[in-house]
Amino acid sequence: MKTPNLICAISFFVLTTVTGLIAQESVSPSANLALTPPMGWNSWNKFACNVSEDLIRGMADAVVKSGMKDAGYVYVNIDDCWQVSRDANGNIVADPQRFPHGMKALGDYIHSLGLKFGVYSDAGSKTCAGRPGGLGHEYQDALQYAAWGVDYLKYDWCNTSTQDAKSSYANMRAALDASGRPIVFSICEWATAKPWLWGQEIGGNLWRTTGDISDSFETPTKWPDGGCCLNSMLMNLDQQVGLDSYAGPGHWNDPDILEVGNGGMTDTEYRSHFSLWAILAAPLIAGNDLRDMRPEIRDILTNKEVIAVGQDALGRESERVAKKGDLGVWAKQQKDGSRAVVLFNRSKSEQEISVNWEDIGYPSTLTASVRDLWQHKDLGKFTGKFSARVASHGVVMVTVKP
Ligand code: GLA
Repeated sequence: MKTPNLICAISFFVLTTVTGLIAQESVSPSANLALTPPMGWNSWNKFACNVSEDLIRGMADAVVKSGMKDAGYVYVNIDDCWQVSRDANGNIVADPQRFPHGMKALGDYIHSLGLKFGVYSDAGSKTCAGRPGGLGHEYQDALQYAAWGVDYLKYDWCNTSTQDAKSSYANMRAALDASGRPIVFSICEWATAKPWLWGQEIGGNLWRTTGDISDSFETPTKWPDGGCCLNSMLMNLDQQVGLDSYAGPGHWNDPDILEVGNGGMTDTEYRSHFSLWAILAAPLIAGNDLRDMRPEIRDILTNKEVIAVGQDALGRESERVAKKGDLGVWAKQQKDGSRAVVLFNRSKSEQEISVNWEDIGYPSTLTASVRDLWQHKDLGKFTGKFSARVASHGVVMVTVKP
């Protein structure tokens, strides 16, 4: 009687171990990345091609010193222009003048501060600034990025000729996974091929839903070369309407890097930009110079109550639940059953805006507590609706808790 029992036990052990190993192998290294929208800093909006090791180190230091790390910002992302060529073996080469100690040393420094390291490349033959792209080098580049300790890759869409977007991005995601290192994958396709329809399926963690933002509230601006046009903040906001159902933990709509602090909008407008990106569950990637921020800008970027809305674990993106001319109401369901609400006034004068409970999924008879996330103040209990005077181009941002 003892022998068959022993054989059974051994067979069971072998079977469960082998199945366990197979199951472990089939889990992608990137399965649990970006469960809340990524937060960090990116070089493009402020510095464009003027990137260097010194700049990036200084910015990583500033993420820590400014309190941004404490507020949740973690990725330090170098955008275009860090790369200059490929060597005889096809390996991507970082600019030796601007990055004299190389990318591994820079990644190590960023990691030593408790932050994460991001780089940029492109699915086509060249990046948008004409540097070598990733086409045909996907697996080689992914291994190189993993060896440098890269945690985040933004992958652009310039010079892609007749390439198919979904398969190009799927190929790079597969290459990143094959490297064995968990790497957040940021699809930068500018919405031409509607990446929200396929981004999650191919393992994208975020995808651009718009063309490039600029530091302007409502007026499109010219590219540095004089060409037309970069989007305004409002243009990118308006393109989020109807996309909320595509966002969720691990996969986010990306209306582009923040412009907060770059000088082209008023502080009121920057507060609106930041509140709207947070309630949209958009990535909060700062795009300004963190080394010399005015206290007002620092206070916007580190408002923990607003950030908590963006980082809420339920991972719902807000919907625009009401709109009357220039007045809009955006609402986001939160994990504890409360709602975050932004009352947004795009008009040229102060206006009263109301949020009706019925528009945010509550009965009109309900009494709920309202808290102002910019004044950091409980406003009291309200039944059926809440109304506030909202400054021109400004927001009132509240939570509504039954
Ligand atoms: C494109 C992207 C931008 C930036 C530049 C870099 O325009 O959309 O976000 O990465 O390329 O060249």
